[in-house]
Amino acid sequence: MGRLCKILSSPCLDLPQIWNRAQQKVSREFSPEIDTAGLPNYYTQNFHHQTDGYLSDRSAQIYDLQVEILFNGAADAMRRRILAPLKAGLEVFKDEIPQNTRILDIACGTGRTLRMIRGMLPKVKLHGVDLSNAYLRKASQLLSQLPGELPQLTQGPGEALPYLDNHFHAITCVFLFHELPAPIRQQIMNEAFRVVKPGGSFVICDSVQLSDSPDLGMMMDGFSDTFHEPFYRNYTQDNLIDRLHTSGFIEVTESVHFMSKYLVAKKPLYGQ
Ligand SMILES: C[S@@+](CC[C@H](N)C(=O)[O-])C[C@H]1O[C@@H](n2cnc3c(N)ncnc32)[C@H](O)[C@@H]1O
Repeated sequence: MGRLCKILSSPCLDLPQIWNRAQQKVSREFSPEIDTAGLPNYYTQNFHHQTDGYLSDRSAQIYDLQVEILFNGAADAMRRRILAPLKAGLEVFKDEIPQNTRILDIACGTGRTLRMIRGMLPKVKLHGVDLSNAYLRKASQLLSQLPGELPQLTQGPGEALPYLDNHFHAITCVFLFHELPAPIRQQIMNEAFRVVKPGGSFVICDSVQLSDSPDLGMMMDGFSDTFHEPFYRNYTQDNLIDRLHTSGFIEVTESVHFMSKYLVAKKPLYGQ
């Protein structure tokens, strides 16, 4: 009971600081021990007004619950929708043994999506990359409890992925693109294209956009300021399908479910 109270109260304990930052429009405030050197300027912000942005263990500790509260308990349900297209995309590699199949989750955060993928595909090799060491530490705690091979977690930017060309059979990316400036969105798609194998797929889950739900326009507009999502307004008007085509992907499909949307794209096979 004591532990449950502690878990439930911890996001609430950040509320006074969140409120203060929102009121004072402070968006780059970090505890003195946090080293932001080498991280991109667009990233070193208090996204969602949260204390230390993505850069402390405390932030990583309360992130999952905060997101579930924000989405009324639907965040994991939204993530789970990437599983079916991911599995369908792997069909092209069905002659490959699972132990040789590699899947990368870009901006894996605390590892929720990797955990779901591990449940569906217990034997494949899983990789996660994220800019936050603190979130990767939390992911490592979560994923090391699962049976099977430990996923490989790497600190690095999605826009310069530390992997070889044509390395992965599939790539996923959940709740990232709305937190990026437009040119970085394009760079990350270009990088996903580079590191996925010909015939492999790229599965994205993110927020709905204006063109999906024009009725939610006012709410989307307010979300940007209320939750300190500095790139969200631009994101809601971006054409992600065009961007995926620009990167070289083909057979791009999109679907919308509740507050989230899904894009699935394929890297052409040689000669396709
Ligand atoms: C909204 S969270 C989503 C995390 C996770 N995918 C999930 O479903 O909860 C955004 C994550 O993206 C990471 N991130 C932001 N910009 C990044 C970049 N350029 N490259 C890699 N990770 C990035 C953050 O550190 C954070 O973990």
